[in-house]
Amino acid sequence: MPERLHAEQLSIGYAEAMIVDSLNLTLPTGKITALVGANGSGKSTILKTMARIMKPKSGSVMLDGKSIHTLPTKEVARQLAILPQNPTAPDGLTVTELVSYGRYPHQKGFGTLTTEDRRIITAAIAVTGMESFSDRPIDRLSGGQRQRAWIAMALAQQTDILFLDEPTTFLDMAHQLEVLQLLQKLNELEGRTIIMVVHDLNHASRYAQHMVAIKSGKVISEGPPVEVMTTNVLREVFGIEADIMADPRTGVPLCMPYGLAANKGSVG
Ligand SMILES: Nc1ncnc2c1ncn2[C@@H]1O[C@H](COP(=O)(O)OP(=O)(O)OP(=O)(O)O)[C@@H](O)[C@H]1O
Ligand SMILES: [Mg+2]
Repeated sequence: MPERLHAEQLSIGYAEAMIVDSLNLTLPTGKITALVGANGSGKSTILKTMARIMKPKSGSVMLDGKSIHTLPTKEVARQLAILPQNPTAPDGLTVTELVSYGRYPHQKGFGTLTTEDRRIITAAIAVTGMESFSDRPIDRLSGGQRQRAWIAMALAQQTDILFLDEPTTFLDMAHQLEVLQLLQKLNELEGRTIIMVVHDLNHASRYAQHMVAIKSGKVISEGPPVEVMTTNVLREVFGIEADIMADPRTGVPLCMPYGLAANKGSVG
């Protein structure tokens, strides 16, 4: 399968600060990719730029051979959806209204929602377990419920490529697994390409076929979890010491951090 999405010599920054310098990154089509790295390492910046909601200073993001920053918004939005790290909704907007925004890229002209749109919206609300909150304003949900409403919106967009920035943040353990299993299902059954930022490395290892470890806007290591989840990479990328062991169920590497790396210094 040809890879549909890649970054070429991407440099990204805010005002004067350069966060990413000449990044080359290919996101494997039809796989789940996990982007991991410390706070402030540039994961969200890279994700936003690759999903076209942020413009690079130079370089390009290529989707099917075309630079996405030169393509019309709606055209890109039919191919890829993004759940940002801290999305905000207008006051009073209900779950159903939010999720219906996901259909916008598919509407023609000033089109109202079709029966098919409504079916897709209802299905996205159901699959994220949000039926009982469908008429509730987003600002009156718990953190986890709100997160699931945004995931539902991204799902309603029905794109082949799905970017999610920390989709499991705010979720309890069961809902974390529910979201990850849902993403796995979308990947396995529908062949969707998923790129997610996750802080739980064991989730990354269990659910992603490809991992990219970022430090200061650079790729330190990428490949299958067994190549990326190593003591050396974790020391370099996170400044931690960890034992790596094989998951007794599947054999994928799991990590058990036990301390800070010597050069990391300690607090208190
Ligand atoms: N809007 C902004 N204006 C200026 N600097 C920013 C802005 N957003 C992020 N930064 C800076 O860019 C760098 C990378 O931030 P980014 O949000 O990409 O990190 P991250 O890897 O997603 O971190 P986290 O795990 O905390 O979400 C950080 O140093 C951050 O302070
Ligand atoms: Mg982030």
